[in-house]
Amino acid sequence: MKAIDIRNKYLNFFEKHGHKVIPSAPLIPENDPSVLFTTAGMQPLVPYLLGEKHPEGKRLTDYQKCLRTVDIDEVGDNRHLTFFEMLGNWSLGDYFKEESIKMSFEFLTKELQIPVEKLSVTCFAGDEDAPRDEESAKIWEEVGMPKDHIYFFGKDDNWWIAGEEGPCGPDTEMFYDTGKPACSEHCDPSCGCGKYVEIWNNVFMEYYKTNEGKYTKLEQKNVDTGLGLERMNMLLQGKETPYDTEIFEPIMKKLQQLAKVDNIQSRRIVAEHLRSSIMVISDGARPSNVDRGYILRRLIRRMTRHLNKLQIDLNELEGLIELNISVLCEMYPALLDNKEVIKQVILEEKDKFVKTLSNGEREFAKVVKSMKSENKTLIDGHTVFKLYDTYGFPPEVTKDLAEDENLQIDMEEFQRLYKEHQEKSRAGSEQKFKGGLSGNGEIETKYHTATHLLNAALKQVISKDIHQRGSNITTERMRFDFNCDHKLTDEEKQKVEDLVNEWIKQEIPVTVEEMKKEDAIKSGAECMFIEKYPDMVTVYSIGDVSKELCGGPHVKNTGELGTFKIKKEEASSAGIRRIKAVLVD
Ligand code: ALA
Repeated sequence: MKAIDIRNKYLNFFEKHGHKVIPSAPLIPENDPSVLFTTAGMQPLVPYLLGEKHPEGKRLTDYQKCLRTVDIDEVGDNRHLTFFEMLGNWSLGDYFKEESIKMSFEFLTKELQIPVEKLSVTCFAGDEDAPRDEESAKIWEEVGMPKDHIYFFGKDDNWWIAGEEGPCGPDTEMFYDTGKPACSEHCDPSCGCGKYVEIWNNVFMEYYKTNEGKYTKLEQKNVDTGLGLERMNMLLQGKETPYDTEIFEPIMKKLQQLAKVDNIQSRRIVAEHLRSSIMVISDGARPSNVDRGYILRRLIRRMTRHLNKLQIDLNELEGLIELNISVLCEMYPALLDNKEVIKQVILEEKDKFVKTLSNGEREFAKVVKSMKSENKTLIDGHTVFKLYDTYGFPPEVTKDLAEDENLQIDMEEFQRLYKEHQEKSRAGSEQKFKGGLSGNGEIETKYHTATHLLNAALKQVISKDIHQRGSNITTERMRFDFNCDHKLTDEEKQKVEDLVNEWIKQEIPVTVEEMKKEDAIKSGAECMFIEKYPDMVTVYSIGDVSKELCGGPHVKNTGELGTFKIKKEEASSAGIRRIKAVLVD
């Protein structure tokens, strides 16, 4: 089975169940200036989810071209893609949980013939905004899902909304067990280790989140689902990555033939970015320095950089575009009509970049020389900004170049300068200090102390320059954002986790004192936004492991925390990583 067969099976199946097949909307949203690209099948349907009548009725299905760029820096690994296709089915005030779950189960187990043992599902655990979704769990059990394959998680995992405001609700997600060994005794579908792969998400949209963060009930109960086609295709073919399937294989092979340097990551980046660029250009995007044009520019420039890295003659690019279109046109026939313009746009942007590159590379070489003579390894944000502003180097390109020289870039400072530059006219910073504490219960208090330990452990294991950039605590988990220029390795994660657990085992007392802000800073206490604190501050210390300005509350002794476990480590935004972790007894 190929991707297009899965797509056809899906549409036929839902058509048989009374759904009308509607066309994929363009990647560039037609009437929605608030988003750069279509990121989910539901996006073009928002008015109908809010109650407007859809001309095709209450049951719809489609395949939707999507582009998500939050993980653009992760592309090159074995799973992240920017462009992907989402298969979806919708109920606009028609069926709800029962029929939705039944159809999903039937499609997975009968149409795709996935053995039920390979499936697991997750449901919403409930909180102050919406109740625990026992109903979905019960339906899963009734259709034949083993009880111990049904999990409950909180909002982070089992609640879906596009952005900050809009229709939303609890979801039930389906996972495929790749058969890889469990990473620990706590391994479950919420874990990012790769054993469980999310394949389908059914959102039960009965709420609307207002821009003040309040949840109100929608007039109608909707179902919105999304199934990632490339991922499903890879799993059904038993392949390790989407690059090993028919969608990417011809281009990956060709790149290997042409390359003089063996670098699988660069081959993947070229293949992935080329496909995304082709798709967005076909839907009307053009390179520029703002918004979606800038994303396209980044895609093409990064791809060009990696062609250089592979030592592939840039004159081969035209042939690579043609090959790519010939592979993709079965799924997206419009590419054939747009072939000439796609080629023209990519090749022109490549030429522009080649010019920029030679000036910029000369400048970059100077930077490298002076850094090396001064024995420095971190390129400061001002230099990165200058390369961007004067030489047209997207910071990602500078980062790639820097990596070749074993240097790092201060992405965070760059981001700051970039923002400053953008907001020059806007007075003051809008960044508000927001404590990570959302409740003061016993569990939250434990997580609050664990947050300080994690912060301290990251400094010891990774770099003393790591600082907290955000934090959020619920009764179920903690989330911690911090500056870091790379994805943590498994070894680093393990070390961090072990160190936190070591401190817990040591039963270190937690102490609190009041002091003047200057004294606190002088004593080396950690804090997030110094200017936001009053003159007198409270400082929490955990032995000599951690000292932080903080409003508390905290546990009295680290021994109260149980066992600390990192569940996920992922990109949050450029230069900022996010860890989700739990405490278990
Ligand atoms: N809109 C849901 C998602 O993107 C289905 O996961």
